[in-house]
Amino acid sequence: MCGIIGYTGPDQALPIVLAGLQTLEYRGYDSAGVAIDGHGALAVVKRAGKLANLRAELDQIQLAGTCGLGHTRWATHGEPNDPNSHPHVDAGSSLALVHNGIIENHAELKAELAAAGHTFTSDTDTEVIAHLVGSLHDGDLAAAVRAALPRLTGQFAVAVMDHRDPGTLVAARRNAPLVLGHRDDASLLSSDVAGLIAHTRDVEALLDDQVAVLAPGAVTVTDLDGNPAQGHRYTVDWDIAAAEKGGYEHFMLKEIHEQPAAVRDTLIGRTDAEGRIVLDELRGGPDAAQDLRHVDKVYVVACGTSYHSGMVAKYAIEHWAGIGVEVEIASEFRYRDPILNPHTLVVTISQSGETADTLAAAEHALAQRAKVVAVTNVVGSSLARMADAVLYTRAGPEIAVASTKAFTTQIVALDVLALYLAQERRALFPDECRDHLARMEALPALIEQVLGQEAAIADLAHTFAGADYFMFIGRHVGLPIALEGALKLKEISYLHAEGFPAAEMKHGPIALIGAGGPVVALATRGHVWSKITSNIAEVKARGAVVLAIATEGDTEIKAHADHVVYVPEVLELLYPVLTVVPLQLLSYYIALALGCDVDQPRNLAKTVTVE
Ligand code: F6R
Repeated sequence: MCGIIGYTGPDQALPIVLAGLQTLEYRGYDSAGVAIDGHGALAVVKRAGKLANLRAELDQIQLAGTCGLGHTRWATHGEPNDPNSHPHVDAGSSLALVHNGIIENHAELKAELAAAGHTFTSDTDTEVIAHLVGSLHDGDLAAAVRAALPRLTGQFAVAVMDHRDPGTLVAARRNAPLVLGHRDDASLLSSDVAGLIAHTRDVEALLDDQVAVLAPGAVTVTDLDGNPAQGHRYTVDWDIAAAEKGGYEHFMLKEIHEQPAAVRDTLIGRTDAEGRIVLDELRGGPDAAQDLRHVDKVYVVACGTSYHSGMVAKYAIEHWAGIGVEVEIASEFRYRDPILNPHTLVVTISQSGETADTLAAAEHALAQRAKVVAVTNVVGSSLARMADAVLYTRAGPEIAVASTKAFTTQIVALDVLALYLAQERRALFPDECRDHLARMEALPALIEQVLGQEAAIADLAHTFAGADYFMFIGRHVGLPIALEGALKLKEISYLHAEGFPAAEMKHGPIALIGAGGPVVALATRGHVWSKITSNIAEVKARGAVVLAIATEGDTEIKAHADHVVYVPEVLELLYPVLTVVPLQLLSYYIALALGCDVDQPRNLAKTVTVE
């Protein structure tokens, strides 16, 4: 998704802006641009494609100036070409503006501005904001931005600079992230904390409909009427090394290997001395003792990989806490009429906490007075701020577009939530809760064991890399992992991969099985083991080559499958945390064998802030 960086201070802006854009590359983008205030005139340079294209162009010109903006664009309105790249300028080219998000009423604003004589050079909604702000500019850039915002419908983070106001950046947001960086001698802004931590840890998340004015070493925030306001100011406590590759070839591989530590962090401090689960985070919202006891229905709402962790949570909440759960894709949930009331718990899951559809679903649930809990990885994210309560997954920054450690930590956080519900509602005995938690605490070491098979899984990946169609099948908690395995593979290797409930194969998908086609089967020991082995037999009888993910010690599975990867034995509901790991590695090594861009797959963005 688009990235924004801005700097004003004593140093040359261009190297800082370019380095910031590089840090934001992981968000996914298809063009990049910069604007530098070069003493009385703005220079804007922008290029389609990767940052290297922009750098090549900038190598030809000297752009001096101590105030600048940069942007990486992930196309929404208009194709990813040079004119559509940001920054965009106003009618007199006095100001340059970058934008993340979508302006829904851009067509009517454009018509209005065109009627007033403005001409446009791009297909973007962003250029309309630049012209609108320019048309309202009467000597005060911040006042022009404040006047423009009420005219905009949609979601946006914008940053703008004007050569008539040297050394000043003005920024604003509505439903899209924008973070300010404070320093004594300089001020920065970015769509993502990762863009700031090389310069400062003192950051301030701007809130909706706030306008910030940045000068070197001075930031002022106001509301739309110009009254003093404050964003959410905090200190970033993670290290820049955490946002770098740490010796791994790709962020994805690094993040796969970080899972034992991440899961450990997710579990830390969630119990008291007696071993009871304590989720103080929930106290501010749906209070454990009161509201949670009266919850009669749970909705879990999320997108993509987070949706799959929500599917896993359904099994845990229903089994342990005895409450009915529906899991739904956020973009579908928000456009139907789910029956919600104050006794409904809506669990929204989002690694980034900025996914537009998930935010909208949470908003919808809050409007119906349901209790909304956010399970997210990003402190201070929009979802965290809007929910009644937040359960942080504590996975650390996830940079690779393909989500791995966010997924396993989400499952663990959701399992803790399920046990907490069970504890508070007395659906489980205290010693049962303690036993389940103890088994969860063993998970990090068990993930390490699975990671120990990396070389064998890489070999299997080479065996399978030539296939052009993969199927993943599973039952019960194996089903979400089948779906996640298929999603991971298609995301980063561009191979066609589908996940199915194993018993559904014979109702249609089995027609796709051809001689030698790989089928990955989630076949760990549990109450559906004999069922899945029958399903494996059905696909093998039709020529599939089967890779089974099975429980250590299960020698019988060898009679059913061609290849087996073993994971240690755990509680049936906890298998997803282990079984997904070989599938992450399989996808990674297949993508690597096919020469794909593992960390930044084509067409994908890390944070999907548009509908
Ligand atoms: C897949 C992936 C996406 C995200 C989805 C939701 O690897 O990363 O499917 O899971 O875009 O993102 P969050 O969790 O940030 O809401």
